[in-house]
Amino acid sequence: MRWTTAKIRQSFLDFFAAHGHTIVPSASLIPKGDPTLLFTNAGMVQFKDYFLGVRSPQHLRVADCQKCLRISGKHNDLEAVGRDTYHHTFFEMLGNWSFGDYYKQEAIRWHWELITKVWEIDPKLLYATVHKDDKEAEDIWLKMGVLPRERILRFGDKDNFWEMGETGPCGPNSEISIDRGEGACNPEKNHPGQKCFVNVDGCERFIEIGNLVFIQYNRDASGALMPLAKKHVDTGTGLERVAAALQSIEESKRLGKQVILGNYDIDLFQTIIRQVELRGEIYGQPVKYGADAEKDISFRAIADHARAISFLIADGIKPGNTDREYVLRRLMRRAIRHGRRIGIHGDILQGVCGIVVEAMGDAYPELREKAGEIGEVTAAESFRFDQTLDRGLELIAGWLERNHGRRFPGELAFRLHDTYGFPLDLTQDVLREHHVDVDVAGFNRLMDEQKERGRAARKDDAVAPEISLGAGTASRFVGYRSYEGESEVLAAGGKDGEHVAVVVAETPFYPEGGGQVGDRGVIEAASGAILEVSDTRKAEGSIVHVGRIIHGEAGDFARGARVKLKVDRIRRDAAMLNHSATHILHYALRDILGNTVHQAGSLVDPDKLRFDFAHQGPVKDDALATIEEEINARIRENAEVTTEEMAYDDAIKAGALAFFGDKYGDRVRVVRMGDFSVELCGGTHISRTGDVGVFKLEAESGVAAGVRRIEAVTGQGALETIRKREKILEEIGAQLGARDGAAIERLEKLLAREKELEKKLRAMEQKLAAGAGGAAAEEEVRQISGVKVVTRKLDGVDPRTMREMADRMRQKHGSAVVALGSDLGEGKVALLVAVTPDLTAKIKAGDIIKNIAPIVGGTGGGRPDLAQAGGRDASKLDEALAKVAALAALAFR
Ligand code: ALA
Repeated sequence: MRWTTAKIRQSFLDFFAAHGHTIVPSASLIPKGDPTLLFTNAGMVQFKDYFLGVRSPQHLRVADCQKCLRISGKHNDLEAVGRDTYHHTFFEMLGNWSFGDYYKQEAIRWHWELITKVWEIDPKLLYATVHKDDKEAEDIWLKMGVLPRERILRFGDKDNFWEMGETGPCGPNSEISIDRGEGACNPEKNHPGQKCFVNVDGCERFIEIGNLVFIQYNRDASGALMPLAKKHVDTGTGLERVAAALQSIEESKRLGKQVILGNYDIDLFQTIIRQVELRGEIYGQPVKYGADAEKDISFRAIADHARAISFLIADGIKPGNTDREYVLRRLMRRAIRHGRRIGIHGDILQGVCGIVVEAMGDAYPELREKAGEIGEVTAAESFRFDQTLDRGLELIAGWLERNHGRRFPGELAFRLHDTYGFPLDLTQDVLREHHVDVDVAGFNRLMDEQKERGRAARKDDAVAPEISLGAGTASRFVGYRSYEGESEVLAAGGKDGEHVAVVVAETPFYPEGGGQVGDRGVIEAASGAILEVSDTRKAEGSIVHVGRIIHGEAGDFARGARVKLKVDRIRRDAAMLNHSATHILHYALRDILGNTVHQAGSLVDPDKLRFDFAHQGPVKDDALATIEEEINARIRENAEVTTEEMAYDDAIKAGALAFFGDKYGDRVRVVRMGDFSVELCGGTHISRTGDVGVFKLEAESGVAAGVRRIEAVTGQGALETIRKREKILEEIGAQLGARDGAAIERLEKLLAREKELEKKLRAMEQKLAAGAGGAAAEEEVRQISGVKVVTRKLDGVDPRTMREMADRMRQKHGSAVVALGSDLGEGKVALLVAVTPDLTAKIKAGDIIKNIAPIVGGTGGGRPDLAQAGGRDASKLDEALAKVAALAALAFR
């Protein structure tokens, strides 16, 4: 094979080295000192500061092959992994950069040369895209004259504007896509009627193999695009995709027919997948990739996750229960479960990750260095999860058997999490295979309650033993309007590698209070050491930053050290929004429900808000709707939010609402919103109510006698919640084959039908329980004057089922008079007579029933071919049925 993955990687680096680029190693998967990002998700992450002009680069042109993980935030592909052939969590991104040096012209020309001259891809297969407003890039393509105009396509922001995350460097881009041939179409994934083409969602035929971003803006926390001082180039090419394309072309030539390989068919992944097969041979039943489409999903997922796991451990992450650690744990547990899914019961991770080290260790020496650790950590986690995985899976299987088609309860998902170590997304992954949804809101509620209990229990002992606060450690909060600052360490405690606590003279970090969670972020010492702050709290007149040192030592933060402080702005802004929203909510509650409403507690975190208040009985649905309306009206009013310090007594006189759970000093801070809300509050707030965007009430419930709780989401969170719901509705519509109102109708019909079927099923069960299908006697068949008379006595069979039975009997006998009598219990009987159409001229079912019904003390009637009657005397059933034969004898005399 000419174009192995390793060769492609090298050829890329050689090409850009020849064009004056310095080749640099891949950065760690853990971004350094960037609290806005959990993992490195693109090649440009390590260069972010060069783009922003915060630091100066050593070289103006660099290139590398960067390990990337797209599993959180803006770029998250986890749920797609395994299900198709080209998504990954971990992947390698080839990239070349210009920091204020060359721009669009060179970037485009060189890439084209690389793809068509070095890799020798036929230009006929290629397409270029540009941003619709980027005339410059379009002209470059046109002037090069390598692609016909119709294969230079224009798209809008969605496809041709690349952004690192919610904030950060960004700009318009130009992408190069390859047509992999008709055989690569996956019509199942495309929406019906939609054609495969460049930038069509789900299209596996046209695949992007080069992304050239022209970085010229920084998106700030308010969402605004700020032009950068210089213009830069940032490119990204998925190594696995290029390998799939080049190896497909090579294989097609070799075999003389078109071969289309997916990313998981390339040499590197095949080595890993062979190892999964080997695990199958050793630990369970032999399985082969490519034999079963369902099982192939698991092969791909295991191969993908094994790479992510190996690299995460090599970069220093251990499985744990929060943040990055939890991502690693989730990946490991998902991979182990996928092993089970293809029948592998032994330790799968250690072996498969071992192969990752071997296959990729040359390009990434850190894998070899940490090989021992990768082995130990994977083995330990497999051991831990092995204890509970099967029991958890049994619990799910048992539930599915009894509750098919229902939503999986939040309590069970919580139990699986708590007792069996199933991360929520693992439970969802298992249930998705059965098309069952999990009650995520219910699960989250229970998780929150658990966290709350944990928080209450931990509160006092977490900080106190580690830091001694005394005279001269009083600190000041200066972060109402700023997120960054510089100060001096007044007190520090804790050891390396453990939680440390730091107090500084002035801090922009908001300490937990007034329901608002404490800030997170980073503190950087003059030595370059970095403390990742995971919480900020008040203690004895000081503000304590608690966190872990991710670079440097505890000594770097000793008393007297100068430090820079930087708050995680996205998180703070989201919490701030929710905090202001609680004030509007408080006002609306009092406005709609009356002034007896009093705040009893609140929790404001970046994702949601929770507000507890004194009120008797549940708040009615229409009142809740009015409250939501009122709040959103106040948001749209875009009222000004102002803060002011004044004497406590003056504030109360001015009508400020005080929360009696809090202690106030003589001087208090008053937060006003428009003319409707005045509260005593030390929290951080937005400057106009319109900043909240939208307020969506999520739940109302009781938490204690006389105390109600409202949960809500705002801003982006609200939008996401609405979108999620919309998606669910769409999914329901698609499953039902009907949309909107029609879906409700269709669902009603289905539910009615289900009820009917259930009833039938019960009747059948009853009959079965009664033995011999409800027949009290066998069918009696007699020939009377050449006519078949069939009678049968039944036990507990209802009239409806009798009709069905009669139908079957008529069919079976072809030409006959059929009579059934059923003892329904409690002194009730039912009679039924059916006559086949060829005989109704001579004898009518209605006439027969009129004659025999009185025998059982009843009346009845019906049509010539079918008649029914009820009666009260079961002891006369035989007699009534016997009379049918006599009536037939008369009629056919
Ligand atoms: N930063 C760009 C990407 O990730 C090149 O695709």
